[in-house]
Amino acid sequence: MAAPLSRPGGGRFVTFEGGEGAGKSTQIKLLAERLEAFGLRTVVTREPGGSPGAEIMRHLVLSGMGKLLGSATESLLFAAARADHVKLVIRPALEQGMWVLCDRFADSTRAYQGYAGQVETQFLDALERVTIGDLKPDLTIVLDLPVETGMRRAAERRGKGAPDRFEGEAVEFHQKLRDAYRQIAEREPERCALIDAESEPSVVAGRVLKVLHDRLLSPSAPAEAIRA
Ligand code: TMP
Repeated sequence: MAAPLSRPGGGRFVTFEGGEGAGKSTQIKLLAERLEAFGLRTVVTREPGGSPGAEIMRHLVLSGMGKLLGSATESLLFAAARADHVKLVIRPALEQGMWVLCDRFADSTRAYQGYAGQVETQFLDALERVTIGDLKPDLTIVLDLPVETGMRRAAERRGKGAPDRFEGEAVEFHQKLRDAYRQIAEREPERCALIDAESEPSVVAGRVLKVLHDRLLSPSAPAEAIRA
């Protein structure tokens, strides 16, 4: 069933989540092209990062410097980046009626630092209260694929470069991430859609568009036009 149009100006906040090599950036790019072609003003952004200050935090955390401090402190670094990003990029864009497509958001902290990194849920709840408050995604696309496939894709993508802080974790860590995302999607079916991401990008893009059609139908964006 289509969700009612709830944001002033008609913008929507859509987040993409998944483990390493799930194809989030590719899918976001394809979706943004489709939405723009339909005349919807779209902002593509990412976490950690998306604002100048948060991009500095991204560099810091992915370099592995935060690892020395433990998962709880790492989650504080992600929270600091998120607070800046929300304030400077996401909220202003939504207030202007834009569609915001964000590569990772708070679910990444739940999966990576919470479930896989064993940081307490109450601690992460508190961080969410101060960083995002009532800002909930209208839709979260969870791209799901076997860990081996994702890790292989991530290795192909970085070529001869070294794995970053999280790519370098053991297979068990990545399996926990997959479990975590599946649980998140199961717990919040109204917000999340779990999508099989093992197929070709164009096939996955078709699945993403179908979910968008089914969940975010609005009078200003006829579903058939977006899906066509
Ligand atoms: P990516 O966006 O290129 O996948 O890189 C971001 C990495 O940071 C990825 O390994 C997931 C990780 N991450 C967290 O651990 N917690 C977070 O809250 C976010 C946003 C990302």
